[in-house]
Amino acid sequence: MNFNEENFDENLLIPKVKDESEELQETSLRPKKLSEYIGQTKVKENMKICIEAAKKRNQTLDHVLLYGPPGLGKTTLANILANEMNSNIRVTSGPAIEKPGDLAAILTSLSENDILFIDEIHRMNRNVEEILYPALEDFNLDIIIGKGPSARSIRLDLPKFTLVGATTKVGSLSTPLRDRFGIVDRLELYEPEDLNTIIRRSADILGISIDKEASMEIAKRSRGTPRIANRLLKRVADFGLVLGDGNITLDISKVALNKLEIDELGLDNIDKKILESIIYNYKGGPVGIETLTATIGEENGTIEDVYEPYLLQIGFIARTPRGRIATPLAYEHFNIEYNEK
Ligand SMILES: Nc1ncnc2c1ncn2[C@@H]1O[C@H](COP(=O)(O)OP(=O)(O)OP(=O)(O)O)[C@@H](O)[C@H]1O
Ligand SMILES: [Mg+2]
Repeated sequence: MNFNEENFDENLLIPKVKDESEELQETSLRPKKLSEYIGQTKVKENMKICIEAAKKRNQTLDHVLLYGPPGLGKTTLANILANEMNSNIRVTSGPAIEKPGDLAAILTSLSENDILFIDEIHRMNRNVEEILYPALEDFNLDIIIGKGPSARSIRLDLPKFTLVGATTKVGSLSTPLRDRFGIVDRLELYEPEDLNTIIRRSADILGISIDKEASMEIAKRSRGTPRIANRLLKRVADFGLVLGDGNITLDISKVALNKLEIDELGLDNIDKKILESIIYNYKGGPVGIETLTATIGEENGTIEDVYEPYLLQIGFIARTPRGRIATPLAYEHFNIEYNEK
């Protein structure tokens, strides 16, 4: 096994995830208990029951797959699960586990009841994935020792652990892997009211003073996404300091958000490109998602998994059997004349 020291967290000796500085910033705002986790009622209730049942049976929690667009709270929820189960959490990500040996090293270093969190699990290599199947099902690890004619396979027993997988692209997950999760939960975009609660909670933690109307304004422009809401809150707070006495009023929030080029619905350039492409290149649609993806030039799956959910939520796009269409609401937003077909 090749361990490149730099790529490992010195405490855990497992591959590091993502950009640590961004992770650190978010950590302070992350709720630690299920009861502090705002919104996602269905997922929360489901989790609560699974946690209580596992505790009553004195068993480890079933493997959990969390999916949904970025920034909705998958990593947060994984940490909460560990907290509620009084388990240690070990964090890694699909692309960080390059070889079967890397995964074998992680699995053999787990302790009973540990939670292994694999972020971006859809990006794990297939040959790595295959090691995971018996580990998930029977807590066994088959490893091959030696090479050529003297090679032999040995089976190791693993401690009972819980895998929590997170992905923004559930469609890219192989069926055998997906089938091995007992608990599968989809995180939904948040309603503005829930985002407002999240913003007010974050403002409290960060010592930011903000009027109710102002936090609601940020909530409405956050694309249903807590990460965006928290980010906008911090940016708007900067404007509050410079333009006012530190308190964020509705006026200040509007000025700030406009300066930041966040439109009233929080649409960004790619959203605009998607809608304009449907409207101008495909005469309003229907257009197949693959064709649209190719036209926009985004990575495969990103439009469907990251952008489309919000455009569907605000009713700018509709799905039809023949593809996506832009709705009259989208035309109206961009001041384009809508011709009934
Ligand atoms: N339900 C929630 N209540 C309060 N805050 C939340 C909630 N969900 C997410 N957040 C906040 O949003 C931020 C982003 O959440 P998180 O990192 O868990 O998202 P993610 O789904 O893992 O994103 P990615 O797909 O990019 O990994 C966190 O800092 C957290 O504070
Ligand atoms: Mg995450």
